[in-house]
Amino acid sequence: MTEPDVHLDDQAAALRADVRYGFSAAQKWLPAKWFYDARGSELFEEITRLPEYYPTRAEREILTREAGEIARVTGAHTLVELGSGSSEKTRLLLDGLREHGTLKTFVPLDVSASALEEAVAAIRADYPGLSVRGVVGDFTEHLGLLPGEPPRLVAFLGGTIGNFLPADRVKFLRSVRDVLTPGEWLLLGTDLVKDPDTLVRAYDDAAGVTAQFDLNMLSVVNELLGADFDLGGFGHESYWDAENEWIEMRLRARRDMVVRIPGAGMDVRFEEGEYIRTEISAKFRAAGVAAELTESGFALERWWTDGQQRFGVSLAKAVQEE
Ligand code: SAH
Ligand code: TRP
Repeated sequence: MTEPDVHLDDQAAALRADVRYGFSAAQKWLPAKWFYDARGSELFEEITRLPEYYPTRAEREILTREAGEIARVTGAHTLVELGSGSSEKTRLLLDGLREHGTLKTFVPLDVSASALEEAVAAIRADYPGLSVRGVVGDFTEHLGLLPGEPPRLVAFLGGTIGNFLPADRVKFLRSVRDVLTPGEWLLLGTDLVKDPDTLVRAYDDAAGVTAQFDLNMLSVVNELLGADFDLGGFGHESYWDAENEWIEMRLRARRDMVVRIPGAGMDVRFEEGEYIRTEISAKFRAAGVAAELTESGFALERWWTDGQQRFGVSLAKAVQEE
């Protein structure tokens, strides 16, 4: 059995740099990838099954309907998945491509080693004959190292593209375009703008799973950097920023605190009511997605939504550039 390629070396050093940078800012923040240790990945899987968290179901509806068409249009020999997590919905694409008869290799990439190993084992068991080459890595750094023969289809699902700030988003799409050869494919899942109440509740469920997920980031800092965050000292909030059209995840301090973070060589002061921004999740409109794909060197070939128009999936082709 082939082990995954691991491109992450010193996690503590990487987190140290992010903590020093993010906690020195006027508005404290941390990059979203630090949610996803083994427990974070499990909590995210739980989120995907919550009644309030519609994006997974809406995207699955689209993939169920269009997997055959995606296979026919792309004729992909390799399916690459970025931020693959459990790769559950991805099975629909694997089925479609296998029936079409072109698929040889599946390359899931995720920063979470535990989620990746579990997904690779499950897919290998259920897809005998498929070459599965897992990569533990960061999709903002390790795209150049992806194996697999062309034509490749790169899937980026779950609305994870919305977790980038707008400027970083176009940079990221451009970096995907740059590792592709003209004629290869991107399948992009984007959550759509809708009524704020539905959006806010998708990120702040009644059972409190999303709150646990959000707070897990502080556990990761405690674990990797020996910090003494008291998780009870922070409360989870989901906030709709109507101007930027994104949901912001916040951990708000319930009281004044000083947190020791020995692994980053710093003590961080929190005032009551101050918050850490742990993630944004941008929501899209069809025209905006099309414009960003074009700007990044892709030609949009198909656009689908679910029946309730909650979620959009784009199929785009890397174009030849001067
Ligand atoms: N694609 C799955 C999971 C989405 S959650 C779905 O649609 O349900 C986002 C996933 O991206 C998680 O599995 C997380 O571990 C991964 N991830 C987050 N930041 C990452 C990064 N910088 N590089 C690689 N993977 C990342
Ligand atoms: N990519 C997911 C999204 O933006 C990640 C996510 C879902 C998430 N629920 C969350 C991140 C709650 C933080 C908190 O929908």
